[in-house]
Amino acid sequence: MRVRAPAKINLALLVGRLGDDGYHPLVNLFQAVSLLDDVLAAPAEPGCFTVTMTGESAGVGEGPDNLALRAARLLAEEHGGDEPLGVALTVRKTIPVAGGMAGGSADAAAALLACSVLWDLDVAPDQLAALGSRLGADVPFALLGGTALGTGRGDVLAPVLTSGTFHWVLAVAEEGLSTPAVYTRFDELGRGRRPEELDVPDELMNALRTGDARALAGQLHNDLAEAALDLRPDLSRTLERGRELGALASLVSGSGPTCAFLCEDESAAIDVSTQLASTPGVQAVRRVLGPVHGARLVSPTH
Ligand code: C5P
Repeated sequence: MRVRAPAKINLALLVGRLGDDGYHPLVNLFQAVSLLDDVLAAPAEPGCFTVTMTGESAGVGEGPDNLALRAARLLAEEHGGDEPLGVALTVRKTIPVAGGMAGGSADAAAALLACSVLWDLDVAPDQLAALGSRLGADVPFALLGGTALGTGRGDVLAPVLTSGTFHWVLAVAEEGLSTPAVYTRFDELGRGRRPEELDVPDELMNALRTGDARALAGQLHNDLAEAALDLRPDLSRTLERGRELGALASLVSGSGPTCAFLCEDESAAIDVSTQLASTPGVQAVRRVLGPVHGARLVSPTH
């Protein structure tokens, strides 16, 4: 069984004050984009769970902490019944590791779906999402895809209506950033919002509904950007460069360090992506579209 799951961009990320559970309450407007990780689940001896990482997976271990492996084990424990199960997972990574694009969550989502099909388990989508949220706050969104508003830890989702397709360019940084480290810096800066400030403006929802990239550009916002830039000041040069090259807007994606650039159309995106590649500190540039669907089974021959 082969499943692909998408990376995400945060169109709006509003962050409250740290809660007693060690998480921050969020308002998180996600969009899934056409940068996909691929998880293959092959039969294995009962009780045998393995993962092999391939593609752009430097720094991701294959031990028990691997998120795809944890997803497979959790699914077997919670929904596997009495029969001992096993799986050999192979993850092919395209989503940057520690890039603020929920690559680990995409792998967990893909592993949940692939194993549920491989083992022929009767698990409803909302049960998979509930398991997913135990693995990471962004896993339910990687299962759902599209554009959605996340509240709570970002894992309570409501789909958002959009029209058309948005053109994005992504600048992948040479070195990753740890999500907990960015949240800690955010706390140190004392920027947590009060509950009444956790709200997405109507203008943003309207821009998505009408598919108006220019209007959307004026509404993109990320509360974690200041903390990410504080830890990685070099990113501000990348953000500026994208705007000089004609992007409508530039923003840090989630906790960074990947930077996302919204472009007017395909030809503008080609211009930005070609020229951004030579910016110092930029390891790779990707041109992607959003929204795309969530984790999905692909035919075994693809
Ligand atoms: O849930 P996930 O494993 O993706 O989160 C990684 C880390 O990011 C958490 O351990 C926590 O430090 C931080 N986080 C947070 N508030 C959220 C989501 C994540 O503080 N809503």
